[in-house]
Amino acid sequence: MKITVIGSGYVGLVTGTCLAEVGNEVCCLDVDPAKIELLQAGGIPIYEPGLDDMVRRNVAAGRLHFTTDVAESVAFGDIQFIAVGTPPDEDGSADLQYVLAAARNIGRYMDGYKVVVDKSTVPVGTADKVRAALAEVLAERDAQLDYSVVSNPEFLKEGAAIEDFMKPDRIVVGAEDERAVEMMRRLYAPFQRNHERILFMDVRSAELTKYAANAMLATRISFMNELANLAETLGADIELVRRGIGSDPRIGYHFLYPGAGYGGSCFPKDVKALISSGKAHGHTLRVLDAVEAANDAQKLRLVDKAVARFGEDLSGRRFALWGLAFKPNTDDMREAPSRVIVAELTRRGAEVVAYDPVAAEEARRVMGDNPRLRFAEDMMSPLDGADALLIVTEWKMFRAPDFEAIRAALKAPVIIDGRNMYDPAWLREQGFDYLAIGR
Ligand SMILES: NC(=O)c1ccc[n+]([C@@H]2O[C@H](COP(=O)([O-])OP(=O)(O)OC[C@H]3O[C@@H](n4cnc5c(N)ncnc54)[C@H](O)[C@@H]3O)[C@@H](O)[C@H]2O)c1
Repeated sequence: MKITVIGSGYVGLVTGTCLAEVGNEVCCLDVDPAKIELLQAGGIPIYEPGLDDMVRRNVAAGRLHFTTDVAESVAFGDIQFIAVGTPPDEDGSADLQYVLAAARNIGRYMDGYKVVVDKSTVPVGTADKVRAALAEVLAERDAQLDYSVVSNPEFLKEGAAIEDFMKPDRIVVGAEDERAVEMMRRLYAPFQRNHERILFMDVRSAELTKYAANAMLATRISFMNELANLAETLGADIELVRRGIGSDPRIGYHFLYPGAGYGGSCFPKDVKALISSGKAHGHTLRVLDAVEAANDAQKLRLVDKAVARFGEDLSGRRFALWGLAFKPNTDDMREAPSRVIVAELTRRGAEVVAYDPVAAEEARRVMGDNPRLRFAEDMMSPLDGADALLIVTEWKMFRAPDFEAIRAALKAPVIIDGRNMYDPAWLREQGFDYLAIGR
């Protein structure tokens, strides 16, 4: 099939590449000329395991190409995926300007039937707005052309995006006409050879499903974070509690990890957008208000621990910080807890020397103007003479470090661990002051 993907970011690039991988011809469009130039030159603008090889393979096979030319991209695909950003507006609602601009571009240049697929995470009712935008532009052109608008939210996880796209748990498709349903069925047939994973539903339910999924996951995290903070006060160990409840199949083990708060490009904005959708329709989503407030507080939890240990005024203190990305295996710094932690530590006068195996460049871009923040090239050098080690992202390489070397390097052996990486009893036996979450 011939497919156009509008927006070549985390979702668009993965979607386009994976669709090419199974034999389709794919054109990826972006408005960012630097991104497209890099892709055309064989580079990859994001860090995503396995993506570079797959892109190269499909470009070499002639199935995948990149462009900034809107007319060319619209002419190319029978299916037009919209995979542009939907950042929060000032009131928390999803800003649809990029989605609607993409829709208008399709309307401007299409010359035959198109299936327009909303893959971006968009609030309920967006498909209607996309349909209206197309209709308006086509009317201006006096063109009578058929099109279908489909909702196909994306559930991939950064860091495992290829695996998630190639072997999805489910493919949600909101489509209301047979022609579009048939094309979507054909498009996704290669991804469900083992068993049927596609769930067809009405468009509004598909749009809401994406927000419901992210809101549920964010709720589990905030719930565990609040219980972890309580466990600390009560003298219980949240890790044991986690295992104790996770063993119940109604609860399950996934997504019950307390930590430094959720971040990334999705949970914070999607929770906000769902709250805002609720408000706009007269519903206060009280659970989600609390999820968000708990998360805001949790992002400062490591700083609270540093303050409890070193005092309110942190001037003259220097902290080593491991992990900047909002989670491992990505360079995504959007809403990363590290940003809040670094800002607050340095506001209190401290210096921070940070190490991240992948996200340092992106971190430099978003917080490189902070004069009290420095970036290290390796994980051990920030420790030299530092007052404490703070762990913010659970990269695998931090799982079994050389604790002897850590103790020798730090001014005093203090580890403030936002990801519960280590055994507290053992570390305390080794003489560390080990401050974890909920333990
Ligand atoms: N990142 C994730 O893990 C993830 C997972 C599931 C869903 N989503 C959703 O997918 C959407 C995209 O997210 P992302 O992380 O890929 O964003 P991104 O910012 O990485 O990529 C968006 C891209 O769209 C481009 N763009 C904007 N307007 C355009 C236009 N009119 N024409 C062509 N290109 C345009 C931008 O230049 C950018 O490269 C969002 O709605 C997000 O919520 C993201």
